Amino acid sequence: MEILTGRPTPIVLRSGPQRIVLGELIQAIRSCRTETYELWKHSLAVAATARQLAAALGLSREHRRMAYLSGLLHDVGKSAMCHATLFKPGPLSPDERLYLREHPQVGADMVEELRSPEVHEAVNCHHELFDGSGYPFGLKERQIPILARIVGVADYYEALCESRPYRPIACTHEEAVAIIDCLAEAGKLDANICGRLEDAVASRSQGPVKMFERFSVFFELTVSSSEGAGTRARATLSLSEVR
Ligand SMILES: [Fe+2]
Repeated sequence: MEILTGRPTPIVLRSGPQRIVLGELIQAIRSCRTETYELWKHSLAVAATARQLAAALGLSREHRRMAYLSGLLHDVGKSAMCHATLFKPGPLSPDERLYLREHPQVGADMVEELRSPEVHEAVNCHHELFDGSGYPFGLKERQIPILARIVGVADYYEALCESRPYRPIACTHEEAVAIIDCLAEAGKLDANICGRLEDAVASRSQGPVKMFERFSVFFELTVSSSEGAGTRARATLSLSEVR
């Protein structure tokens, strides 16, 4: 079990500048949508799963809150990217792929004003991979902050369970877990975190997720489960397909 010592830098959301910054970031995420895909719904789902993963890993209440907030904001950088490229319904060119790989750092710049080092590094590092083959820094194993590893697993799981403009067929929960397990076995994702995914998703889907009381003005939303997504079919997904 990985032990996290210390408390994360507190975020005060009852009132004050951090609440205003968070409201602006959420508005930016909500603006990032097409007729068939909403970044906000994806972000809510990643946040809920990240929080439950943090709980399943035995992290403190404060760190669970940071996991939720990191999941909520992980892709905020996409809101500042070219939407035509982001939602392109087909393969990306090498240049387009490189361009979209800037979104973690763009997002990290956007959350800087929130003054939370934990959220900042989670946003910046959520596409790092356990074997060092991720981006933007090529960090590996425990060089990758644990909240970034948690959000990374939650992001891949939720992306697999969603249809996207460039990949209209979603995986079932079982298919998504099987693919995540394969990625863990291949050393791409943290196997310890992936091993808690089933429990995390099961506890997440028991009902509305009441996150942190002080955030309730923003987050009293029921996180939609991945059930009932229509036509199911086995989907194969390479890591590069998760944008
Ligand atoms: Fe991302």
